[in-house]
Amino acid sequence: MNLSTLIRCRPLALLALASLLPAAHAATPAELLAAYTAQAGAAASPERGEKFFNTNFGKDLGLSCASCHGAVPTKGFKDAISDKQLEPLAPAFNNKRFTDRAKVEGWYRNNCMDVVGRECSAGEKADVLRWLLTLKP
Ligand code: HEC
Repeated sequence: MNLSTLIRCRPLALLALASLLPAAHAATPAELLAAYTAQAGAAASPERGEKFFNTNFGKDLGLSCASCHGAVPTKGFKDAISDKQLEPLAPAFNNKRFTDRAKVEGWYRNNCMDVVGRECSAGEKADVLRWLLTLKP
């Protein structure tokens, strides 16, 4: 069976196949924002996102998101724990950011646990991403 027959006759098989590929995680920042916003059921607020990002929630490590990414994450910044230089988090300054669902979910989980002491809500993730998207060169 050639590819065009497969496309015509086996859309479900093709979908199943596609979900096995790493590209299945591929997304755009706008798609991720839309998904978080839909999940939250409310519009995202860039002001709330900026405030959240710069808040020290008083957890053990005493960190805010800004401690590792910078208060305005448009430049490289030194991770407060590992001392490694991190690339800018704002998508307009780093086109790899918010393009991989699994990576974004994994890091949101880790970093929210460290900073806030729990996972971030969909609304918080939407707010942060909405704010990051306002940062332009
Ligand atoms: C202790 C340091 C540290 C803190 C604090 C921290 N991060 Fe991160 N963050 C990292 C590291 C390390 C990575 C993975 C390396 C990289 O992608 O630069 C990362 C990656 C991410 C990513 C992945 C983005 C992508 O698509 O590449 C997101 C989203 C993120 N962080 C958001 C946050 C948010 C929101 C907070 C605050 C709740 C936060 N981070 C706090 C160190 C930190």
